Amino acid sequence: MEPAGRFITFEGIDGAGKSSHIDTLAAAFRRLGETVTVTREPGGTPLAEKIRALLLNDAMDALTESLLVFAGRRDHLRCVIEPALARGEVVLCDRFTDATFAYQGGGRGFDAKVLSILERITQSGIALEPEKMRDPDLTIWFDLPPEMAAARLADARAPDRFESQPAEFFGRVRQGYAERASAAPQRFVRLDAGQPRDAVWSQLTGSLVQRGWLQAGTSDVGASAS
Ligand code: TYD
Repeated sequence: MEPAGRFITFEGIDGAGKSSHIDTLAAAFRRLGETVTVTREPGGTPLAEKIRALLLNDAMDALTESLLVFAGRRDHLRCVIEPALARGEVVLCDRFTDATFAYQGGGRGFDAKVLSILERITQSGIALEPEKMRDPDLTIWFDLPPEMAAARLADARAPDRFESQPAEFFGRVRQGYAERASAAPQRFVRLDAGQPRDAVWSQLTGSLVQRGWLQAGTSDVGASAS
């Protein structure tokens, strides 16, 4: 029998604070003896990191943006995610396809039907078998109002093509995430990311303890290790 890897993705609008929790969670899994791959999108392979630089810096229309995002994702799945899952690892990925539906679909207003077709082609296994479509096992959605996220980003480094969008854009991105979450309620966990960091961490670990993927008490360790 193949080992059972777990594919966990992290989503939310820019400034939701998700990235700071991923390394802490990786450490918690490693303490349990798991091998953990931490990765991100756009990016995660040398080729996909080059595509990331284009996406964050170069002007383009929403179809070009979507095609580039999925091209990087195909390489990332083939070279990093699928092999790690086949070895039975825990894969923690900072953003995945829900971000495409939220940003290109919600934010840019691009056709979700086209995105669904690209999703199916890109994620249908290495040999393009539709019945083997790769979805995350669990998606943690850090949800908060765009105004709060903007306040958190205000002091950050120079904004990229997405971070420099107005609050209305992030309102649409948030709505895009809400639609993806209601279409796949078993896969999604929504966290109230407007709370203080320790409280968000408790919500996050609580949802993993509930699934039997972490032990109770992990939340205390994570909060003090941050
Ligand atoms: P992000 O993880 O926010 O990087 P950082 O924290 O270093 O700024 O991702 C970069 C941006 O890419 C983010 O604004 C969302 C955008 N994005 C899309 O538009 N579509 C996608 O499919 C993905 C994965 C990301």
